[in-house]
Amino acid sequence: MQKDPSKKYRAFPPVHLPERQWPNRVLSHAPIWCSVDLRDGNQALAVPMNVSQKLELFQALVKCGFKEIEVGFPSASNTEFNFNRRLIEENRAPDDVWLQVLVQAREDLIERTVESLVGAKKAIIHLYNSTSPAQRRVVFGKSKDEIKAIAVQGAKWIKERLPRLKGTEVMLQYSPESFSATEVEFAKEISEAVMDVWQPTPQRKMILNLPDTVAVAMPNVYADQIEWICRNIKNRESLIISLHTHNDRSTGVAATELGLLAGADRVEGTLFGNGERTGNLDVVTVALNLYQHGIDPKLDFSKLNSLVEVYERCTGMTVPPRQSYAGELVFTAFSGSHQDAIKKGLAEWEAGGRSHWDVPYLTIDPADIGREYREVIRVNSQSGKGGVAYLLESEFGIDLPKEMQREFGPIANDEVDRLGREVTGAELKQMFWREYVDRTAPWQLQSFETESKDGAVRCRAKMICDGKPKEFSGEGNGPLAALVHGLVSANVPRFEITNYCEHALSSGEEAVAIAYIQIKHCDGRSRWGAGVDTNIELASVKAVLSALNRLA
Ligand code: KIV
Ligand code: ZN
Repeated sequence: MQKDPSKKYRAFPPVHLPERQWPNRVLSHAPIWCSVDLRDGNQALAVPMNVSQKLELFQALVKCGFKEIEVGFPSASNTEFNFNRRLIEENRAPDDVWLQVLVQAREDLIERTVESLVGAKKAIIHLYNSTSPAQRRVVFGKSKDEIKAIAVQGAKWIKERLPRLKGTEVMLQYSPESFSATEVEFAKEISEAVMDVWQPTPQRKMILNLPDTVAVAMPNVYADQIEWICRNIKNRESLIISLHTHNDRSTGVAATELGLLAGADRVEGTLFGNGERTGNLDVVTVALNLYQHGIDPKLDFSKLNSLVEVYERCTGMTVPPRQSYAGELVFTAFSGSHQDAIKKGLAEWEAGGRSHWDVPYLTIDPADIGREYREVIRVNSQSGKGGVAYLLESEFGIDLPKEMQREFGPIANDEVDRLGREVTGAELKQMFWREYVDRTAPWQLQSFETESKDGAVRCRAKMICDGKPKEFSGEGNGPLAALVHGLVSANVPRFEITNYCEHALSSGEEAVAIAYIQIKHCDGRSRWGAGVDTNIELASVKAVLSALNRLA
């Protein structure tokens, strides 16, 4: 790196907009969305999608609710052309979905593009040419006027061919590519020159797409550029102002949100931000950010996991685990204190009584986008007893008493630490069974019968102790008291039951119950035990033996 970066790089000049309005505005409704997955996203793939992958992704985009989809660059290759033809000829686009196609200002390419659209119900023809000083100088070696002439000529070639698209509702779109690196005055001049050709009206608007082709400034500067254009361009009411941001400075979402505040009507982007270099704007994030503020995004991501699957299968890309909303880990807490807060927050929400979502660490309810509470809390060595208890409860209905959580939490934690990895709910259940339910030595139950007489309960028990049969009886004011007295009479050191609870683990005739019992030994030590049986009395007896065995 440079010792003095200012010798090699310079900041992007801000726009002069002293009375800017966008910082005082708030977003109140969804923009018009346009997916560019099948064009901008596709052209950024090392192996572009084949026709069947594009068809599958197209269908998924329609299902999400996109009404405008840039389906490709039909003049670029036969695959692109044929894909557009299949969409049209096989009637795959619903009547209310616009097929958008991109084209440069070259007559042969425009000719082929128009040909690709014949028979479409709704089509957007998207013309672009690059306008920034670097593009004018390095790529084209042309003056501003010459660059403007390219755009105007392209607009004319398209207009001349529109009669060929009889029966197709056509909307026209122009992008001064590299807009954000272009002088705003020149961006206005070239866009107005295209408007002069296409003659948009408030009833028949054209789309003016203002791309942040390569992000070169902070998002507030992009917002200023958008507001400047919105305020200074002629016939604003005949335009749909569209945003198209990229992520070179990781600010695609921020630039889009500020651009919307600045007056834009429409947003182009891709699922999960696929696109050239660091990617395009992630439309899922912007839509769900609106949703999080209580605004209907007009896109449906209620099955986000399946959308991720389709996207990954079609593009060969992967959604990173910490990608906003869609990443595998975004609704997951490993840290004990976060788990505890989430658990309490979810319990409060499920109990009802709160009008609006306010659960710590969860910006939205994961269930709204098809993700489960279960994946919210995961257990590794950083986790506390809360996470362990949550997984046992949510996955298996094992509702450990609070005090027992304090005992089992560290036991599970040591084991997870030893394994050195995340563990599943099923593994935690196995640990719990090993530690409590399957603890059958030295004491193991063979049979336990009770009878009541004059308010007292008498028990007769058959057990195995250290591999030898043992029989005893006892009396008390209930079965458990009778058991404790019987065990003490069989030379077990004195102990008392200090905590007891039980619940059903399953329902139906053969319902299984689980009992949790804490005992206190005469030497002061306390232990929990757990027992499982279809008979609740036997589950409790087993729980007492489990606790005794853990003391041994
Ligand atoms: O990033 C960009 O500028 C583009 C244009 C073609 C709109 O993709
Ligand atoms: Zn782009």
